[in-house]
Amino acid sequence: MDKKAKISNHKVQSSDPIGIFDSGIGGLTVTNAILQVLPKESIVYFGDTAHLPYGEKSAAEIQSYSLKICDVLLEQHCKVILIACHSASSAAYETVKKHVGNAAEVINMIDPVIEHIRQEHASKKIGLIGTRQTVGSNVYQDKIKALTIPGSLHALATPLLAPIIESQFTEKEAIQAVISDYLNHPTLADIDALILGCTHYPLVKEQILKHYSSKSGASSSEISIIDSAEVVASYLKQWLNKNSLANKGKKAITRFYISSYTDSFVANTKTLFKEALELENYPLWD
Ligand code: DGL
Repeated sequence: MDKKAKISNHKVQSSDPIGIFDSGIGGLTVTNAILQVLPKESIVYFGDTAHLPYGEKSAAEIQSYSLKICDVLLEQHCKVILIACHSASSAAYETVKKHVGNAAEVINMIDPVIEHIRQEHASKKIGLIGTRQTVGSNVYQDKIKALTIPGSLHALATPLLAPIIESQFTEKEAIQAVISDYLNHPTLADIDALILGCTHYPLVKEQILKHYSSKSGASSSEISIIDSAEVVASYLKQWLNKNSLANKGKKAITRFYISSYTDSFVANTKTLFKEALELENYPLWD
């Protein structure tokens, strides 16, 4: 039986793994949040380190990488493919969904956050920080507009952040300065809530909070930080339960693939998971 037939003949079951992908370490923040609420789930993770940053790539490039990664995840019979990257969610969600068809559920980072805003922050002035791809695609802006809520969205591209984070957390003061410079931008003035619109950003949440707590004025410390990793993990849990697809048996596998082996990826996985993960090199293509 060829690979395609094997994929389409597979009947999705609760013991199947969850497939997660990102350009690099960002999706690990989502994986971490998922394992907090769904510790029994098996995970197959793909970090496309050979092609980061996605935020600076064209939509067509991101779509092409995403489809190839999906094939790797489908070969592993993933029941869900989670696009744990806002840039790929904004550029490739529809394309991926069409490609995957009924073989797995495709979840993106953006829709659960939009629903969270509708429920929790509908009348607020909301800031969004993300890559050039995410902000420039206008997907967030359009989806918020479609909600017809009284609140408003104010989006700022913060392209330096993901590469700085990916290259590891040295030079803390310099990182803090870059973050504060972005957060002081007039676009984000007087916001009530801030969406971390890139899966790398929870890794600098502490510095983001520090920025707001060090600002004088009562309102600055009251800004809600919308951590999309947590929002999506909770959405996934609900979805699995609703569809009777949460794993009830023993966790089988946790597999991490990266398309280019980098020391910073290894170091960052240790920081996040408090243990050395076994990473498999899975070189992609151009
Ligand atoms: N983690 C990705 C996101 O959420 C972006 C990082 C990159 O530019 O590769 O958009």
